[in-house]
Amino acid sequence: MDAIKAITERVSVTKLTGPGPNEEQLNILYRAAFRAPDHAWMRPWRYLTVKDEGLTRLGEVFSEAGALTTPDLAEDKIQKLMDMPKRAPVVIVAIANIQPHAKVPAMEQRLAVGAGIQNILTAAYALGLGAVWRSGAMAQSNHVNKSLGLATNEEIIGFIYLGHVNCKLKKAPVLEKDDFVQDWPIKTAD
Ligand SMILES: Cc1cc2nc3c(=O)[nH]c(=O)nc-3n(C[C@H](O)[C@H](O)[C@H](O)COP(=O)(O)O)c2cc1C
Repeated sequence: MDAIKAITERVSVTKLTGPGPNEEQLNILYRAAFRAPDHAWMRPWRYLTVKDEGLTRLGEVFSEAGALTTPDLAEDKIQKLMDMPKRAPVVIVAIANIQPHAKVPAMEQRLAVGAGIQNILTAAYALGLGAVWRSGAMAQSNHVNKSLGLATNEEIIGFIYLGHVNCKLKKAPVLEKDDFVQDWPIKTAD
């Protein structure tokens, strides 16, 4: 697929089904992630590929995290957390590994990981796969971090749900350039 088409027409897909991306497709997705702009080439990223039994284990971790935060969490909410990762055949956990650097603040390192996620989303779309970037409370949970083996300098930037598209693709909205872009210096009416 043409690069401009993929970038401008990509949409998120939440209704996903198996099979997940195969090994060749996963390799392409990670190569795309690794081409994110990255100040000082710090490579401040780390990714976990979760599939099969891993999705069940991740669901358990999510439900444990929910129960720890809200001890009287209703059974249906616990079950919802348990089922969350199974909304896709593959979930990629995108992690920022933040290192002290004289010229590259933590925010830039997080942004580099975000840019990598965007590359994965665009590459997935170009490959005909569906994908969506999710975060939520589970991306901020100490229990989730600990269970996934994150170090204290690491943060979850996103969960990327990946699979085959199981719905009609929505059409990408076309935003008006003038609503968001100005020439500077801005001309004022006199
Ligand atoms: C940092 C970040 C976190 C997000 N977290 C969620 C989320 O937890 N749940 C969700 O439904 N969408 C989340 N989104 C939004 C979707 O990924 C998606 O961009 C949005 O639904 C718009 O769809 P589109 O990408 O097709 O325009 C998040 C987006 C970003 C950038």
